[in-house]
Amino acid sequence: MTSMEQTARERTAERVKRKKRVGFLGLAWWQWAAHLLAWAPLALLAYDTVTGGLTVNPIQDATQRMGRAAILLLTCSLAVTPVQILTGLRQVQKLARPLGLYAFMYALIHLFLYTGVDYGFDLTLLIPDVIDKKFVYIGFSAFLILLVLAVTSFRWWMKHLGKRWKMLHRLVYAAGVLVVIHYAMAVKGDALRLRGNILLPILYGLVMALLLVLRIPQVRKWVVAVRRGEIRGREEKRPSSPNPFPHERGEGEPEKEI
Ligand code: HEM
Repeated sequence: MTSMEQTARERTAERVKRKKRVGFLGLAWWQWAAHLLAWAPLALLAYDTVTGGLTVNPIQDATQRMGRAAILLLTCSLAVTPVQILTGLRQVQKLARPLGLYAFMYALIHLFLYTGVDYGFDLTLLIPDVIDKKFVYIGFSAFLILLVLAVTSFRWWMKHLGKRWKMLHRLVYAAGVLVVIHYAMAVKGDALRLRGNILLPILYGLVMALLLVLRIPQVRKWVVAVRRGEIRGREEKRPSSPNPFPHERGEGEPEKEI
């Protein structure tokens, strides 16, 4: 057997091995776990609605729960790339789109509960309430961004928008910041005077700031260099890639398995 034939055989064997590693319906176990966890807030809401587990103001309780689920999933979606930078696990990138879409789904339910279930889509009631609650404008701006990102998250748009797709999808950070402000203003309390239920909005604000800092090219480069240095220290001189962001171009560092 020639060396070329042997390499081809090795490549085929590796491909078969990879296919075997992918689980039910083409998703690995950790992807299944993420999908199941993402449905949990809705399942819990359905269960509490049926069993009477909601508060004395059930519509408000449901609206708030769906809002909190939306902000949590949006933050998880934004955390995907920083987690990849910190750990070098390229496969986690597969979670970014589904988590973003789940965040949009919960925001949509949150909006429906407020405008449809609470106010019966009655503009004569809704308009005075929205004028009174300034934070709704901010939530709505975030929602519009999430809507555009959800619609353009498909491959067809990615192909047609080319480089502009990436630029457009950076707006997700603007949505993240708007949603934190919306949360801080919606809860009873005063974020500036640190009074009331502002602990969670402040925590989200700090996490969002950290995620944004990790996207700064210099910080990112430094984190990758530190991680690579540790890996080299442990495994003794693995050949390094000249590209500081190999996970972006799919080259360089060998893929780590989860
Ligand atoms: C579509 C536009 C939106 C509208 C009209 C809206 C409306 C509201 C309203 C009325 C509340 C107060 C609920 C209450 O205490 O009675 C609220 C709270 C909240 N919203 Fe929104 N929202 C919108 C978008 C979003 C988005 C996009 C997110 C997250 C991704 C979000 C997350 C939250 C959170 C976390 C709360 C606080 C829940 C709590 O008090 O525990 N909202 N929103």
